[in-house]
Amino acid sequence: MRSITVRLAKTSHTLGGIMATLILSTAIMSPAVAADIPAIYNDSCAACHDSGALNAPKKGDKAAWSALKQKKGMPALVNAVKSGMIQMPAGGLCEQCQDDDYRQLIDYMSK
Ligand code: HEC
Repeated sequence: MRSITVRLAKTSHTLGGIMATLILSTAIMSPAVAADIPAIYNDSCAACHDSGALNAPKKGDKAAWSALKQKKGMPALVNAVKSGMIQMPAGGLCEQCQDDDYRQLIDYMSK
């Protein structure tokens, strides 16, 4: 009787582990699917663009961003993120981002 209880407990433990893994992978995948811009920003861009590390234009620096948008234009800015810059890794650490995500991320940083 006792060994059965133990085995049952082990089985449910494994199931719990699988469930936890499933929930975790859904949480990791969801930004790509739902294009949750603030979450993508926090995961991929904030490391540099929150503090202005390495001279990155800061989130919320409206003047800097509107100057960039006027001078280069949105398509050039999107391309700059995709191909990377001197200090910015190509794609800005967002592997699943599409052009439209980058446009929205840039708008999000401009505010
Ligand atoms: C490792 C730091 C880092 C990360 C991460 C990062 N950036 Fe940057 N970014 C920079 C720096 C630094 C610059 C200023 C240009 C330079 O010196 O490379 C910059 C410049 C830019 C520019 C201006 C490009 C231009 O043509 O002037 C845009 C747009 C941009 N980043 C978007 C993003 C987006 C969107 C993300 C997230 C998906 C991101 N960056 C992630 C460091 C980073």
